[in-house]
Amino acid sequence: MTGPIGVFDSGYGGLTVLKELVKKLPQYDFIYLGDNARAPYGNRSFETVYEYTLSCVKALFNQGCPLVILACNTASAKALRTIQQIDLKNIAPSNRVLGVIRPTAETIGIYSESKHVGIFATEGTVNSKSYILEINKFFPDITVLQEACPMWVPLVENQELDNEGANYFIQKHVQSLFTKSEKIDTILLGCTHYPLLQNAIEKHVPDTVKIISQGQIVADSLQDYLSRHPDMESRISCKAERTFYTTDDENIFNKRAEFFYGSTIQAAHLHV
Ligand code: DGL
Repeated sequence: MTGPIGVFDSGYGGLTVLKELVKKLPQYDFIYLGDNARAPYGNRSFETVYEYTLSCVKALFNQGCPLVILACNTASAKALRTIQQIDLKNIAPSNRVLGVIRPTAETIGIYSESKHVGIFATEGTVNSKSYILEINKFFPDITVLQEACPMWVPLVENQELDNEGANYFIQKHVQSLFTKSEKIDTILLGCTHYPLLQNAIEKHVPDTVKIISQGQIVADSLQDYLSRHPDMESRISCKAERTFYTTDDENIFNKRAEFFYGSTIQAAHLHV
């Protein structure tokens, strides 16, 4: 029995990752699930993010996915480890769940010459300190400066990207990040919603600073994972099908999702 790769996010942000996965690995089938009914996750408690994420992972397993990618930093920071270490053996021991923080942490250090990396992320991701811990495992000489941007996901979800209101909140957090260190030469967009704000962020960041999104990093890492795990690779179906689910209204999802994914989407509602 083969099945699609599941890609999960609290809302639309994971579509920025799915877009790159599909570009890099077009042969595989993918199912996307956005938990739009309960987004945003960014400022919710550990328990809530864990509970919501687990219910969505189970829903993707029920759709036949042998492998699920949490294309959400907040869920990767707060729920991934417990799901991998505790839940998986009870619910689906041969299935796998992967996150986006580890592959990003493995790579981000190569971009920085000054050894000072800034990270924009949700409050949940920042407070978990997952990026500091993971990056320092691979790059012990890198200083990580974090900035939580609680207003950015709502701006993106509502497509308020480049206006006076958005600019206020973007400038505020860019300035705040650089007050933590002027040596930052690399900024990671550590939330899968933030690539949509890249143009607006660039306006406030010096030209010499590199701004890195996760989509391609996660796609490269998945390709590498599947080449190292032929047992899992052989369980992925290869009809190049893309299926989209939302826990909220599918018509709203279809209207907004295109903007993140770059092409039209016909989603269905999924109760989790
Ligand atoms: N896109 C998710 C992330 O990468 C979080 C969005 C949210 O706050 O729900 O962190």
